[in-house]
Amino acid sequence: MSQHPVRAAVFPVAGRGTRFLPVTKSVPKEVLPIVDRPCIEYVVTEAVAAGIEQIVFVTAEGKDALVDYFRPNHDLEAYLEATGKNVALSQIQEVVRMAEVIAVRQDLALGLGHAVLQAKEAVGDQDFAVLLGDDIIDAERPAIGQLMEGRRDGQAVVALMEVPRADTRKYGVCAGTMLSPTRMAVEAMVEKPLPENAPSNFAIVGRYILPADTWSRLEATQAGAGGEIQLTDAIAQLAAQGRVIGQVFDGERFDTGNVVGLLRASLHFALKRPDLKDAVQGLIHEMASR
Ligand code: UTP
Repeated sequence: MSQHPVRAAVFPVAGRGTRFLPVTKSVPKEVLPIVDRPCIEYVVTEAVAAGIEQIVFVTAEGKDALVDYFRPNHDLEAYLEATGKNVALSQIQEVVRMAEVIAVRQDLALGLGHAVLQAKEAVGDQDFAVLLGDDIIDAERPAIGQLMEGRRDGQAVVALMEVPRADTRKYGVCAGTMLSPTRMAVEAMVEKPLPENAPSNFAIVGRYILPADTWSRLEATQAGAGGEIQLTDAIAQLAAQGRVIGQVFDGERFDTGNVVGLLRASLHFALKRPDLKDAVQGLIHEMASR
């Protein structure tokens, strides 16, 4: 079992979000709302609930709105206080109190592995988590916390989700030996296999715990490669050493990286809100009968 709890989490948010153009020309996709909170807040909340204390955003030009969301806005606070809008005031203060955020830059979008590598100095020599903002997981126990359970120091853990065979071509898929119905000793990963070639129907979603030596592996990849630096290349090296566990998590995952997925997440979370549920159900019925 791990002697050292995972305390730092990296959130790569430097992508261009082209699937949401034109809005992402000026608004980072991570701050697009699900009901009345930006997408990224759901993921940060998950990390904090799992005991993460250090949040490192890997950002790019034009993403200030994302980082600002987690920092104090004294003018707004003074206005809300003066006008007696106390609920709103405590809501915005709560977000700031949730975690201390650090932002580092990825100047060129050279891939997910390269984005994570930009957090090396901020995180330092410790095992760390990576959470992708496009994957929102609604779960009773935070999904990233489920990956920490039963983990040994130096081990990597990737989140797995069972998908229909026909859908394997949309995901990275793991090959390995099942240690239990929800736990796999991962031996290899295959990118977007056709159903007939897929080694399993366990797909990787955007939650990882990575050991500190991931940094040197990413750096070595950087030296050799001309194109993008893939996080999966570094994880594949760890898998070859028998150091990667795939953990099937309890919870529902929403892919908010595309328009329909974001709408689905919005409806799901709106229907969970007692103050919105009836109105949203009525809306869905009305729209469906058009
Ligand atoms: P995606 O490719 O899904 O996101 O990367 P994107 O590039 O922002 O979106 P589209 O495809 O153009 O619509 C997965 C995650 O990795 C981050 C993205 O921000 C996203 O959270 N990422 C990707 C980086 O931070 N840097 C990169 O170089 C690539």
